[in-house]
Amino acid sequence: MMRVDYSFSRIAKYIFLGYLCVSVVYILHRFYDPNSQKGHTVTPRNPAGHLSQLPMAKTPRPHNWPNSEEPVEQQYLFSKLFSESMQPTNLIPYYYKMDPAPPKKEITVATLITSDRFHVFEKLVRNYKGPISVALHVSDDNRKDGILDRLAQMYETNPLMKQYVDVHLIVDKYERQFNYWRNVARFFSRTDYFLLLDIDFYLCTDFRKNLDSYPELMERLEAGQAAIVLPAFEYNVLDEGRDAAVFPKTKEDLLELVQDERIDMFHKSWQRGHGSTNYTNWYQSEEPYMVTDYNYSYEPYVIVKKDGVPWCNERFIGYGGNKAACLYEIYLSGVEYWILPNDYIIHQNHDYPLTTRKIERNLNKKIYENFREEACFRYFRNMVASGAWGTPKGENLRRECTKSVASFQKVVDEFQP
Ligand SMILES: *[C@@H]1O[C@H](CO)[C@@H](O)[C@H](O)[C@H]1NC(C)=O
Ligand SMILES: *[C@@H]1O[C@H](CO)[C@@H](O)[C@H](O)[C@H]1NC(C)=O
Repeated sequence: MMRVDYSFSRIAKYIFLGYLCVSVVYILHRFYDPNSQKGHTVTPRNPAGHLSQLPMAKTPRPHNWPNSEEPVEQQYLFSKLFSESMQPTNLIPYYYKMDPAPPKKEITVATLITSDRFHVFEKLVRNYKGPISVALHVSDDNRKDGILDRLAQMYETNPLMKQYVDVHLIVDKYERQFNYWRNVARFFSRTDYFLLLDIDFYLCTDFRKNLDSYPELMERLEAGQAAIVLPAFEYNVLDEGRDAAVFPKTKEDLLELVQDERIDMFHKSWQRGHGSTNYTNWYQSEEPYMVTDYNYSYEPYVIVKKDGVPWCNERFIGYGGNKAACLYEIYLSGVEYWILPNDYIIHQNHDYPLTTRKIERNLNKKIYENFREEACFRYFRNMVASGAWGTPKGENLRRECTKSVASFQKVVDEFQP
């Protein structure tokens, strides 16, 4: 009897243990299933601002290839599309979507924001009244819901948002992946052309209308041969440049402020950043002109063809080198830089956290050096193979790489029979 009792309780014990094991495995599976995306609980809203209650990860729109029944999950596709960015990152394209879709021939302003730039963002929307594709980065912490509520509020109170803005939401733990964010804003823009703009700049003129005066330049843009530069300025006194309402609306008024030394080229102390625009020439120009003295640190604000120029390289994290690298690769690929004579943008001044910038700049300086060397050799091989080396398209590459990469000429000589 005793023995039976003993084995009965033993069996009960085993059953209980077995139950425990199954429960633990089940719970673990629920929590760690790689497909369940439990870590990303961002709730999207429809453009009317109502909570749709559907976590994005549960409504994936898989991509199907023409000859395959095998659907590709969206997050998997993104992990390759933006594979140089830091992972994991959670990207939700068209978190808000403009309606109706913009005309194809328009110029989309492609830009990046974080929540501290919402006020200048709203100003851009009111001012531009054209399509805007914005990558919004939100840190994956307990403040994200509050930030998304503020964004929803902006949508509810400003009908221009719904009319003109596509918001692409990026939620992850990585700050300042500017080139990844730029690529997102560009990738999901829906017009043939985009203007790569930093959110703090104020568009002072109607450059879209003014471009009609330059049909030849527009042809070059359409052919993917030209990038069109909007010259950038800033007020010399920080406080004078905070409020865009007082910014000059015509080149004439701007020139007066330049004369009075109240406004100057953007980042005058870092000549190479915008110097290639040649401001001396701009002051007297009435026609578009081409950049002749390109510098690898040149980082102007440009209008380019969406499907026609290289992407921004995503290896740069934080300040320094990132935008210059975008423009460097565009330049090496053979695109000409043309400056618009009557249009310009002005920086809306604000206070900066300077120390982060300094540390990151030192890191990126080295990364940019390596990047330039690599890009020179990569484009050289490309152009030799495609037959562009030795044609006008290869001219930028030849000039710039001979100048800034020590071993370039030697390698080129060896490579060519
Ligand atoms: C870029 O500009 C800076 C400052 O104007 C100059 O010192 C440097 O030599 C230039 N570099 C190239 C490669 O032109
Ligand atoms: C800039 O423009 C001025 C005025 O046209 C010209 O004299 C100067 O040579 C240009 N500078 C460069 C570096 O091209």
